[in-house]
Amino acid sequence: MAKRFLICGACGFIGSSFAKHLWLKYPDSEITVVDVLTYAGSLDNLRELHTESRLQFLEADICDVGALPKLEDIQFDLVVNFAAETHVDRSLYYTSEFVRTNVLGTDSLLSFCRKTDSPMLQISTDEVYGPARENETFSEAAPLNPSSPYAASKASADLLVLAAIKTFGQKAAIARTSNNYGPRQFPEKLIPYFMYLARQGKPLPVYGDGKQQRSWLYVDDFCSALLRVVDDFPKGEILNIGAAREYANLEVVRRLTASLECEALVNHVADRPAHDRCYRIDSRKFEQRYGAIDERDLTDGLRQTVAWYQSHPENFDRLRTQDAVSFRDKHYRNRT
Ligand SMILES: NC(=O)c1ccc[n+]([C@@H]2O[C@H](COP(=O)([O-])OP(=O)(O)OC[C@H]3O[C@@H](n4cnc5c(N)ncnc54)[C@H](O)[C@@H]3O)[C@@H](O)[C@H]2O)c1
Repeated sequence: MAKRFLICGACGFIGSSFAKHLWLKYPDSEITVVDVLTYAGSLDNLRELHTESRLQFLEADICDVGALPKLEDIQFDLVVNFAAETHVDRSLYYTSEFVRTNVLGTDSLLSFCRKTDSPMLQISTDEVYGPARENETFSEAAPLNPSSPYAASKASADLLVLAAIKTFGQKAAIARTSNNYGPRQFPEKLIPYFMYLARQGKPLPVYGDGKQQRSWLYVDDFCSALLRVVDDFPKGEILNIGAAREYANLEVVRRLTASLECEALVNHVADRPAHDRCYRIDSRKFEQRYGAIDERDLTDGLRQTVAWYQSHPENFDRLRTQDAVSFRDKHYRNRT
């Protein structure tokens, strides 16, 4: 029988890539997308799919998912939750929106999945573990120690998923990934934003000394890895799925500008409060069960990302919406 999938937040960066992977791997499947289309979501991200009859798009909030008549009583083969408020910088100013979507939204989706007996995969982040010290790597058993309101809301959502597993025996699992990069990311995030500025010859505002370390996983590599859990659902488990090594932000900027073939001036601006120095997760549990994460080299991935944005310059128009302009005016304009 054809599989039925529900993907929440599939008009965003990672969710749209995952929907495409799913589409190709399961050519008979029916995919339902629930997305409220915040500033970060765009139907254009699903351009190749959304006119197809086996994709149903519902413009709706995950907080209301249980009340959607079109979903009533459907048992999905898998529900994946990418829907979230995701920009750490924004979480400093709009905390309650993060709590609403990331925490209450996850709770609402958990209830829906219990009611319909659908397995649910919650997409989470390495940021829930907080900063790693030198030589420290976090396995799934590490304590949660989030620093930003974003990370705290994601950690809270994870706790709700874990509680539902324990309390109700719910068929649910959590995948925690590291920084993703690649096509279709909302251009307010570091890599596309720096591309946007560099193209205009503007300085690149690097937080603090720029030595914060992050592991960068190309979005297609994450989604290919994630696809492996569809037919072998890790019920009740947490799985880290991260890039193998981390790079200082300044090094990412150096490789990015090399891919852009331009010289860009770095402007060190005041660091973000509670900006974690390093995230480092251990993905061995995932790799032992599902095989190695097939990860492309950062320089190659950045070249592909740059090539995509160069052939889709209209993506930067998304920075011109009133919401995006007013966020930057209020919070970025006077950074020193
Ligand atoms: N991007 C990363 O580097 C990264 C790293 C680790 C984990 N994650 C996690 O992966 C998931 C996807 O991240 P992303 O970067 O693709 O996010 P994104 O911001 O690009 O997309 C989020 C999507 O969710 C939708 N959405 C937001 N609020 C909603 C609501 N209330 N109801 C329905 N839809 C809503 C938005 O419209 C958008 O389409 C998130 O849960 C995030 O925490 C992302």
